[in-house]
Amino acid sequence: MKDNSDVYGMVTRVLHWGMALALFWMFFTTTVRVVLGEGVLYDLVWPTHREVGLVLCLLALFRLFWAWANRSERPAAVNALAPWGHRLMYGLMVVVPLVALLRQYGSGRAYEPFGIPLMSGFEGDSVEWMVAAGGLFHGFLGWTLAVLIVGHIALALHHQFRAGPAVLARMAGRR
Ligand code: HEM
Repeated sequence: MKDNSDVYGMVTRVLHWGMALALFWMFFTTTVRVVLGEGVLYDLVWPTHREVGLVLCLLALFRLFWAWANRSERPAAVNALAPWGHRLMYGLMVVVPLVALLRQYGSGRAYEPFGIPLMSGFEGDSVEWMVAAGGLFHGFLGWTLAVLIVGHIALALHHQFRAGPAVLARMAGRR
């Protein structure tokens, strides 16, 4: 279950690949929204953005805790910069959905992901600073995360197939 100096354990691997899939879905929904705009596909995929986003937020918090709990027993970083790139992605995986949730609350609109009444909404004016913070940062930081993920994939492939060490293998559970 736990990591060791050769490979990542089952929990880390499930979190990594599960969140990778969910993040891919998030960027697919935003791309549909930006490129195609409203239509059949938009109606189909966009409503899932707020729900999958909430799940990702909870998973990211747990992943932070898990990384901390395993901090002294993980495979060594490939260089001194890699841990900073990973920390930046961890930070954004938490901040991006949190800023959206803040805006959702501030908008005064009800929010019931998976039918769970998380925010009941309120009458009257929205909370301006919360809405503004979401408008300013959610999309911008979300796309920043997307760029970092593309870089992360490119570097992982570079290390796996050219420079070493075999980073993909250790995230696949192989020594
Ligand atoms: C890790 C989780 C999330 C990621 C990576 C993410 C990513 C993004 C991105 C990149 C955009 C920009 C689309 C554009 O340029 O128009 C966006 C828009 C949006 N997101 Fe998220 N999102 C996440 C979670 C959430 C959550 C939890 C909510 C709601 C509670 C949410 C609500 C929205 C809304 C309403 C928009 C459209 C308005 C805007 O562009 O800010 N997102 N998201």
